[in-house]
Amino acid sequence: MRRIVVMNTKGGCGKTTITTNLVSYYASRGYNTALFDYDVQGSSTHWLKQRSLEYPPIHGVQAFRQSLGVTRAWQTRVPPGTQRLVLDTPASMDRLELMERVRGADVILIPVLPSPIDTHAAANFIRDLMLIAKLRSDRTRIGIIPNRVRESTLGFQALQRFLRSLNIPIVTQLHDSQFYVQAADRGIGVHEIPDPRVQRHQVAWHRLYDWLERVPETALA
Ligand SMILES: Nc1ncnc2c1ncn2[C@@H]1O[C@H](COP(=O)(O)OP(=O)(O)OP(=O)(O)O)[C@@H](O)[C@H]1O
Ligand SMILES: [Mg+2]
Repeated sequence: MRRIVVMNTKGGCGKTTITTNLVSYYASRGYNTALFDYDVQGSSTHWLKQRSLEYPPIHGVQAFRQSLGVTRAWQTRVPPGTQRLVLDTPASMDRLELMERVRGADVILIPVLPSPIDTHAAANFIRDLMLIAKLRSDRTRIGIIPNRVRESTLGFQALQRFLRSLNIPIVTQLHDSQFYVQAADRGIGVHEIPDPRVQRHQVAWHRLYDWLERVPETALA
């Protein structure tokens, strides 16, 4: 099983968008796919509720909600046979929560909006993450995803320099597109939108899928 955590304590950078597009892609490729929603806002859960039965199924867990009469461990158990597990996380997390989410992860994906404020916040977040979660030699398992990019990576040089110094890769870049908004509303991924103009975005996603498949499978301690 591959466990992918999407996180960045900055709000609105694209965590849910990346989570939902990833799980729908994995499901469409025939993987047993689970989506754990750790955000009390429940955006991923809401997305999954919109998903029609005609699309490949995804197992959803509202991990933010403590169900009555069951233990936390039981509630957040991963269904047997799961091959791809993607965790959506909230904007604000304390140290303990951050550590818990990172534990057992194969990959950490960090979406970043290409603005100076978001770049600065992302650099701080990555620094905290590496310190708190003691990620040193596992740097190749962190992938940065500039999101809502309008033109190359203008205004992004500072983050790029910072990432280079830590040897953290930018694994793909997602463009700003209304297809993401449409897909979010319909419980699908952009690749499930039957419009030839979507193909323009597929290249970026394939870069991410390829990178994810190449990442070693040993979980972070
Ligand atoms: N590439 C994109 N193009 C256009 N709109 C996008 C793109 N990525 C995200 N959005 C939109 O931006 C908004 C915020 O994205 P999203 O909900 O994925 O961020 P988030 O990090 O999960 O936010 P939060 O911190 O509140 O959980 C949403 O309305 C989403 O549809
Ligand atoms: Mg979200």
